[in-house]
Amino acid sequence: MPTETVYGLACDAGNPEAVRKVFAAKGRPADNPLIVHIQDIAEWQPLVTEIPPLAMRLAERFWPGPLTIILPRSERIPSITAGGLDTVGVRFPAHPVAQAMIRAAGIPLAAPSGNRSGSPSPTTSAHMLADMDGRIPAIVEGGACICGVESTVIALDDGQTVRVLRPGFVTPEHLQTVAENVIVDSAVLAQVTADTVVRSPGMKYKHYAPNAAVTLVQGSAEEFLHFMADRQGEGICALVFDSDMPACEKAGLRAIPYGDTDEARAASVFAMLRQLDALGIRHVYIRAPRTDGVGLAVYNRLIRAAGYDIIHA
Ligand code: TXA
Ligand code: MG
Repeated sequence: MPTETVYGLACDAGNPEAVRKVFAAKGRPADNPLIVHIQDIAEWQPLVTEIPPLAMRLAERFWPGPLTIILPRSERIPSITAGGLDTVGVRFPAHPVAQAMIRAAGIPLAAPSGNRSGSPSPTTSAHMLADMDGRIPAIVEGGACICGVESTVIALDDGQTVRVLRPGFVTPEHLQTVAENVIVDSAVLAQVTADTVVRSPGMKYKHYAPNAAVTLVQGSAEEFLHFMADRQGEGICALVFDSDMPACEKAGLRAIPYGDTDEARAASVFAMLRQLDALGIRHVYIRAPRTDGVGLAVYNRLIRAAGYDIIHA
């Protein structure tokens, strides 16, 4: 199923056997819950025990759109869909094809990102086919995803506080226009080990990784170029901002641009990670984006793709 964020692998959220098949097709750990998709705010209430006023204000402001809100689940959501948790993340996607599919199904659709577990999320139907050919019955074509990174996932700590568990196109700055307090969970910017108890199970798994080794490099354009000067050679490549390209070319550095704005980098980052493998790159050095606005979402995906190999140039 195409959505405005990434393609999802959709099934009946209330059918444990269907959900089991989605976990199997992805190779996803059973403790990592699925997001449930609706196409009308009215479809939310039956899935949760209660909708606090702050949650409703956030939904009214940001839905349909790339925001997932976690609340305690009702019995309508089977345990397997929730990864064994007593909560459920719900989202009302903005993509017209996603909305049409949920409407046609007449039921909420559980949908994790459509990649094989551990791979970059799919932002085109071709990515879906590469990961899922022979494992699922069909892919619905919906064009390239506009956002390119998955939805912002939030939980409510209390009536006033929003906790960001996964950053996305709905930024902490956006959330602050509705909520008094917005906290970015410490796992968003730091490494979480496999045995840590986290608020969102997806935080602890290795993610988004191409076959190539990935190093994330922080610093200015000049610092990045200086750092790369003695790291050139066979199978080595830099992923840089569009504006870095002239200097890279001048320095004879093999470089690929991944966008000039945070939004452009978000839209292209997963496709770029996939492309590296097709190009036979063995080690990629990525110029790190900023960590505010949508940049936080891109940075969060890249530190995971890099397995937390982050260097300050
Ligand atoms: O944009 C998106 O959210 C896409 C499209 C298809 O809607 N879906 C997606 O699903 O990214 P997935 O399963 O790849 O990522 C869901 C993330 C995981 O990190 C999971 O741990 C977290 O959200 N999550 C889901 N339900 C949760 C819950 N009840 N409590 C805590 N974390 C939850
Ligand atoms: Mg995913």
